[in-house]
This record gives sequence, C-alpha cells and structure tokens, in this order.
Amino acid sequence: MCGIVGAVAERNVVEILLEGLKRLEYRGYDSAGVALLQPSGELTRIRRTGKVQELADAVAEDSALGSTGIAHTRWATHGGVTERNAHPHCSSERISVVHNGIIENYLALREALTQQGYTFTSDTDTETIAHTVHAEMQKGKSLLAAVQNSVKQFHGAYGTVVMDSEDPSRVVVARSGSPLVIGLGLGENFIASDQMALLPVTRRFIFLEEGDVAEITRREVSVYDANGEPVKREVIESNIEHDAGDKGGCRHYMLKEIHEQPTVVRNALQNRLGESGLVADIFGAGADDILSKVKHVQIIACGTSYHAGMTARYWLEQYANVSCNVEIASEFRYRKSVVHQNSLLVTISQSGETADTLAALRLAKEVGYMASLTICNVPGSSLVRESDLAFMTRAGAEIGVASTKAFTTQLTAFLMLTLAVGKYNGLSEADSSSIVKALHSLPAKLEETLAITQGIEDLAEEFADKNHSLFLGRGDQYPIAMEGALKLKEISYIHAEAYASGELKHGPLALIDDEMPVIVVAPNNELLEKLKSNVEEVRARGGIMYVFADRDARFASDDTMRVINVPHCEAPIAPIVYTLPLQLLSYYVALIKGTDVDQPRNLAKSVTVE
Ligand code: F6R
Repeated sequence: MCGIVGAVAERNVVEILLEGLKRLEYRGYDSAGVALLQPSGELTRIRRTGKVQELADAVAEDSALGSTGIAHTRWATHGGVTERNAHPHCSSERISVVHNGIIENYLALREALTQQGYTFTSDTDTETIAHTVHAEMQKGKSLLAAVQNSVKQFHGAYGTVVMDSEDPSRVVVARSGSPLVIGLGLGENFIASDQMALLPVTRRFIFLEEGDVAEITRREVSVYDANGEPVKREVIESNIEHDAGDKGGCRHYMLKEIHEQPTVVRNALQNRLGESGLVADIFGAGADDILSKVKHVQIIACGTSYHAGMTARYWLEQYANVSCNVEIASEFRYRKSVVHQNSLLVTISQSGETADTLAALRLAKEVGYMASLTICNVPGSSLVRESDLAFMTRAGAEIGVASTKAFTTQLTAFLMLTLAVGKYNGLSEADSSSIVKALHSLPAKLEETLAITQGIEDLAEEFADKNHSLFLGRGDQYPIAMEGALKLKEISYIHAEAYASGELKHGPLALIDDEMPVIVVAPNNELLEKLKSNVEEVRARGGIMYVFADRDARFASDDTMRVINVPHCEAPIAPIVYTLPLQLLSYYVALIKGTDVDQPRNLAKSVTVE
C-alpha cells in the first residue's frame, strides 16, 4: 500500500528519497511523486503514474535538487490513477503533504475549505490535509501547531508528513492508524512509513505511537503525544539486513523467499525448541504464566495469515485440547461476539500493521479477553507494541506481495503455541514428543520438498491456459488448499476456489469438467481413504486432477490424474510441507502467464487501510 519517505538534511536528499521509494515498491502502488525544498525555499514537485523509475527519470531530467523533501508511492483509494491525484499535494505553493490512510470526513472538509476560497486540484482526500494545515497557518500558527490543530479535524487514518516552503529546516509528521517511523542520522533525520525505506541511511529508529505528532529538523526530533504533551519515545536499533531487498540471484523475490523457507523455519525454532520441548517463556516475559490459564483461543487475521490461523485451530483442538475460534479481522471488528472465559486473543500478521487486524486487537482489549498475543514478522510494528505478548516469526523481510515464508513461519509458531498451551491442558506425552520430533525434522523436510521443483515446472504448463481451478483438502490440509488457491489467484489471476473435499457433492461437483483442473492435497493421514472417495467422485465426472501425495498414499498417475510425490513427513508438520509445492505451482504458472509475480495487480503488501 502507499509508501512515505522524507528527509531533512544538509546534502541533496533526492537519491535518498528515490532509493527509499524503490525499497517500498514491494508494498504495491500505482503512482509516485516527490516534493523538494532547497534552502532558499524553492519548491519542486514532480509526480508520475507508473513505476518509481519513471519518477526517477523525470527527476533526473529536471535536475531537481533539495535538502528537505518528501516522497510517496500512492495506491489509489480516493480518485483514479492519474498524475493530478498522485502525492505530494500542495496548498498555495506553500504547504506540501504526503499521506497514507484515509481521511473519512474529507467531503465535509472539502466543502468547508472550498467555501474559504481553496481550490482543489485533485480528487483525493489528502488534499484536504494540505489546505487545512495552510488555513491553520494563516491564523499565525507555527507548522507544528498548525498540524496539531489540523489533525483534530480529521476522522479516519493517517500517517502524514507536512513541509512548508517558507521554512525548509523542518517537516512535521503525524500518525494515527497508519505507521510512521523516524530514522535518526548524524546531522540529518528521516521519516518513512516502513523502516525498510531508510536502511541505507540509518539503523536507529523511533516508532511513533498512535496520536503522535513530531517535528523533525536536521539536529532534533521532538515528539508530542495525542494531548500535545512532549514525550520521549524509545530509540530502537534495527537488525534487519540492509540487503534484505536483494533478489539473491533469483528471478523474483517470491522465488527467493520460497527457497529461504528451510532457513527461516530453522531460525524460527532456534533457541526456542530444545531436545525434548520448548524453552521457557518463548512467547514473551511471563508468557508461560498467562498460557497456563488459557482455556480458549480466539484467532484473528486476514488473508494468508488467516489461513495460518485456520490450520492452528485443528492443532489447538486436536493436540492442546483447548477450544479455538478463528475469524477474519474485518468481520470480527464489526460484530458482537461472545468472549469465552480465560480466552487468549491471538492476532497473526506478517506486517504487524494490517488495519483490520489492529482494529480487532484494540476492540478485543475492551471486551475482556484475558490477554493478547501477536504472531508477527516485524519487530516494533503496531501489533507487536500493542499486544501483551509477542512472538516474532523471524522470517526476515518478505518483499514479494504474495506471502510465502511468512506463512510457514507462522505455522511453525503455532505448532510451538500448541505445545505451550497443551502443556497445561492435557497434551499427551505421545503427541508432545511427536510434535517436537516433527518440528526438529521440519527444515530438512522443507529442503527435500523444494527439490521436487522440476516436476512442478512441467505441471504449470498444463495450467497456464485455464481460467478456473479447484483446490481440495481435508482436515488440517483444508486451510492449505485455501492458501494454495489464494496464491494461484493472487499472482496468476486464474480463478481458484478451495473446498473441504467432503463438501464436493454439496455443490461444487457441478463445476467439474475437463477445463477445470482440480488440485488435491493428499498426505498419508487418517482421512486419506475419505479423500480417495472424493477423488473418485471427481474422476467419475471427467475431472482432471493434480494430486500432491505422500508416496505411501498409493495414488498412480493415469489419463485423468497426475500424481506429484511429496516427501513423507510426520503428521503435525504435513500442512507446512504441503504448502511449498502449492507455492511453487502458483509461481511457475504466473511465470508462464507473464504476470508481475512480485507486485500482482491491484494488491498491496501491507494493508494499512480497512
Ligand atoms: C497473500 C497475503 C495477504 C496477507 C494479508 C494480511 O499472499 O500476503 O493475504 O496475508 O493482507 O497481511 P498481514 O499478514 O501483514 O496482516
């Protein structure tokens, strides 16, 4: 989704801003822009639809310079993808603004500002920020006071950076609902919506809190809370690798990230899983005390993370003997739900900034959950800071919009949570040692599974001209079928549906013909024979099947069925292992179709608006 970069320095900041935008490209956007101020106050604004490179070319052609500047990648919400709607937006050639989020009352503000004589040059909600701040400054206020007064008038979500041509020595930033991080340099300071953008220039960050407004000059950063009181926010040293944005020789980030899974899963387990069980308090200081009281788990997430939660429900109920509900965050946050006794709220998120998940966490805090835990990949993110307990998945930066390694590390985390909660709820000795043993074998199993790539490349050829597909699974493989379908539709744009295969005859069987490939996930578990009956139902109706199966599951390829053997693994880790071939299938289908694998159309990496 939209990205922000800003800088206040002595040197020319053009390259810093453009490099920052490039590092945020993975989040998805459709236009980009920059506003630069020279020490004399000369303002240059350049905007382009399309890629950041087109903006960079235009900036180079213009020889634009500036020691203070703001830049933005826009993912259209209000107003089409046009240059006039791209950020930064300006008021009276004086105030320039970039903004992530949505100003929900923008129509009312727009009307009032128009009556005051302001002319709007875009269809965006953001332009109301520029004019509102300008109107406040006309009352004789400083930029800081003008922004503080302006934000009181906004409803909705914003991460915004404001620059004044009459004072190039500072920018003022405000956060509510959309993340902002200040990067601390030597004699220069920076602002961004994501620390990734600033890693080439600093590793020291201040993560702004909800309601914060900050004034940033070259030498000083002053933060004020929602009440306007000066506050000290912790400076955090980032350990994210500087070159996390490198494709490591792969054609796409997604492929690199798929192949990183054995390593990142190993990292996720390191120092957390001992020979015979979990190390104490791996879910945070004092976590075991909280987990010992848990009698119910409510999981909240979106998209791929939701599929991790759905899988976890099977594990928590089967092994840990605690009841578990899983719900999509955008549903949970807008309905009344019943809070069970001793219920732990678990949010899952790669980014830690997903607007709906964050809103659900905030709601849950008000309605009486015992405690909250987030399973998250980004240290310092909003979910991590606002949850009682946090478990970092250690997947490393995930750049491909389609989530891969974040998902498998989330599942790994959930197996550990199953052990931790199960310990106090009658997890059997046999199940406990089976999960521990399976987890220890997981990185090697994932390596073995990735070695079957070649077969999947060939298979992808048969999919590329299809318009629809059906994914089937049972038990804890049903959410994996859902995840497989999501991956395929996201990056290849082929319509894909997932069903619990027992549901086939209740409707979807009507869809089966030889133009509708059916993908089946078939580990050798207690539901195999049931699954085989479902496979026969498809075969009897002329369906063409692609079965990812354990070699001991005794499926044989024939005219109507292509079998791809997946290495045999212990039952608890089978959902993680079977995820990999489905990711590879989507990747190779997308490759053949020539879609933008890493930045699929219409999608954004971090969904910071609802
Ligand atoms: C799909 C995908 C999305 C995210 C969803 C939630 O590949 O990545 O469905 O899983 O937008 O994002 P997070 O996990 O950041 O909360």
